[in-house]
Formats: sequence, structure tokens, C-alpha cells
Amino acid sequence: MRYIGNKQNLVDTIYSILGAHGVEGTSFCDLFSGTTSVARFFKQKGYRIISNDILYMSYCLQRAYIENNSSPTFESLLPHIATNNSGKMAGDNLDRVIDYLNSIPSAEGFIYSNYTPAGTYLNPVPRMYFTAENGKRIDAIRAMIESWLLNGWLTQAEYYILIACLIESVSLYANISGVYAAFQKQWDPRAVKRLLLRPIDIIDNGLANESYCQDGVTLTDNIDVDILYLDPPYNERQYAPNYHLLETIARYDDPPIRGISGMRDYSSQKSRFCNRKTALIDLEKIVSTARYRHFVLSYNSEGIMPRDKILEILEKYGRSRVVEFTYNRFKSNSRGTSATIKTVKEQLYILNYGE
Ligand SMILES: C[S@@+](CC[C@H](N)C(=O)[O-])C[C@H]1O[C@@H](n2cnc3c(N)ncnc32)[C@H](O)[C@@H]1O
Repeated sequence: MRYIGNKQNLVDTIYSILGAHGVEGTSFCDLFSGTTSVARFFKQKGYRIISNDILYMSYCLQRAYIENNSSPTFESLLPHIATNNSGKMAGDNLDRVIDYLNSIPSAEGFIYSNYTPAGTYLNPVPRMYFTAENGKRIDAIRAMIESWLLNGWLTQAEYYILIACLIESVSLYANISGVYAAFQKQWDPRAVKRLLLRPIDIIDNGLANESYCQDGVTLTDNIDVDILYLDPPYNERQYAPNYHLLETIARYDDPPIRGISGMRDYSSQKSRFCNRKTALIDLEKIVSTARYRHFVLSYNSEGIMPRDKILEILEKYGRSRVVEFTYNRFKSNSRGTSATIKTVKEQLYILNYGE
């Protein structure tokens, strides 16, 4: 999934570096989990995981990928949709439910009315996040999932798995150049294809993983793990406005919206890590209150917290070091029409508590 700071392509390298520095154990906390790429990787390696993020869309992904350990049976749901099903029995039950959701009629709802040109034709600048048809597909699927939950036909895990499937799928059709703060003025070829819901992969590590949706600082009192991993924002760019539409699809709460992009209010989701001063204060709160054997901070050379200030904090609590490695980051221009490669130094700050 396209997400600022997604560590999907880096997590192998991160894992090798941590291994080489003796950072190991059986439990792992991903306090700023985003797409869950890092939490998923360590779950697959057999770690018990605690994951967290301030965004609800991330929480939905966490509940599906991290907390959940079993393929959904949809035991209560299937009898209700079997008669409407095409009769196709192939695949597992998640595939069957996905096939069913892909076959229901489109419906006009909040996404169609606010994020498609047809639904916003009276706006000074009609919004082009989704085609009218895809807006209606999202509304139909999202409303159906909610009605199934209200009818008591879904377990909590099944509910979050379906929402996660929708979040992952929507990202493949959004007419954006990377983030949802703005839509493109021309249709991207991927955005005009008919939206098809896709299943997510379920990971089972047989352990009691936990997922949370809160400010990381407020969670640290309850954390006691071998590895505490932090991957906070590294500049002033807030995540909530950049992913507002995924948040609204996840919540489906018809929020008041404003501006050209139809932004929801995100005042309660502002990250203190997007400000140099408050970032350093919160970093120290986390490092000093959580219990862990190894603390790891993913950051980079362009981050707003200076290296010497970070080390000054970490060194109070144990032996600390920084490992740097280069990473070619693709940076698309504001229209998404071209991309340049920028080499950034990724940093891993490693602290061994009490050494
Ligand atoms: C660099 S991204 C993490 C990317 C993630 N490691 C991945 O691979 O997708 C930073 C994340 O921190 C979250 N965040 C920002 N401030 C937070 C806070 N105070 N508490 C919890 N999460 C926060 C953002 O919502 C965002 O998802």
C-alpha cells in the first residue's frame, strides 16, 4: 500500500541490522504501525506483537493482520448470503464473501456524494478522487459490511478483515499522486478501472497479539516487551490529513468536511512528532516509561529531531548507537507525472536498556 514511510521494502534490512546487533527476543511492539508492514514481518518471524497507531484506518489493518490469527469462517453470515450468491463455491470463505461483495449493486452514499465529480458537480472544483462508479462501489460495499455487523452476522475479527480488504483495495483505485490531501486533475489509468475488492492474507502466529488506536505516549505504561520499535513521522507533515479519505472509509461516519479536498476534522489526531520540540519531549516520555530490553527508532537524515538530541536522550537509559544505511526513495512531483530518485540516509537508533 502506498503510505508515507511504509517500511515494506526496508524491513528485511532492518531485521538483518537488528540481528547483527543482538536485538532479538520473543515480543515486539510497533508503536507507530501505519500499514502494519513491520508488525506483520515480525509476526511472521514468530514474535508476539503489540501494535498501535493514532489513525483508525491503521487500527483496522492491525486488527485484521496483527491481532487476528485465523481465517474467517463467516459462519453466521454465509447462510444469509448463500441464496444471493452466484453459487460459486471455489476458494475459501473469505473469497466467497469478497466475490459476493463484488457482485452487489452499486449504491450512492457518502463517498459518491462527496468524492466523485458526479456527486460534487456543484462544487467550484468538483472532486475527482474516484469515478462515480467506483464511489458507488465503495459505498455499496462499506454500507453492506456495516449492516452485516449490525445484524450480528459478523464477528469483530471478520468485520475488521473486510474493512482491511476495502482499505487495501481502495488504495489501488484512488486518483491521487500518493496522498489524499489532493486529487489529480486528470484521471490516472488505474482510477478508471472498475473497483474490485481483494482479499488480504491472514497471518497466524498462534500468539496473543494486541492492537491499539491511541497516541503512542499514552500506551507506554502498559508496554513490557523485548523490542520496542518506533517509526514516527520524521517531518512536519501530519498523517491524518494525508489519509483523511481512508480514515472516513474506515469509520464511515459521515463527518463534516471542508475545503477543496473534502477534509475531515483531524484536530484530535495531530502528531506531536511533527514538531521538533514536542517530538523530543514525547520521545523521552516513551523511552523513560515503557519497559523493554531493546529500543529501536527508525528515523532518517532529514528528520526534524537532530541526531545529537536523540542520542542525548537515549544515552541516559543505556548503551546507544546509530546505524545508517542508504535508501533510494522515489519522490513523485505534485501531479504524479514524473518521479525522481532521492537518496536518503535511513537511520536505526538502537538502545540496549541498562547496559
Ligand atoms: C512513518 S509512519 C509508520 C509507517 C509504518 N512503519 C509502516 O511501515 O507502514 C508513522 C505513523 O505514526 C502514526 N503516528 C503519528 N503520531 C503518532 C502518535 N503520537 N501515536 C501513535 N501513532 C502516531 C501515523 O499515523 C503514521 O501511521
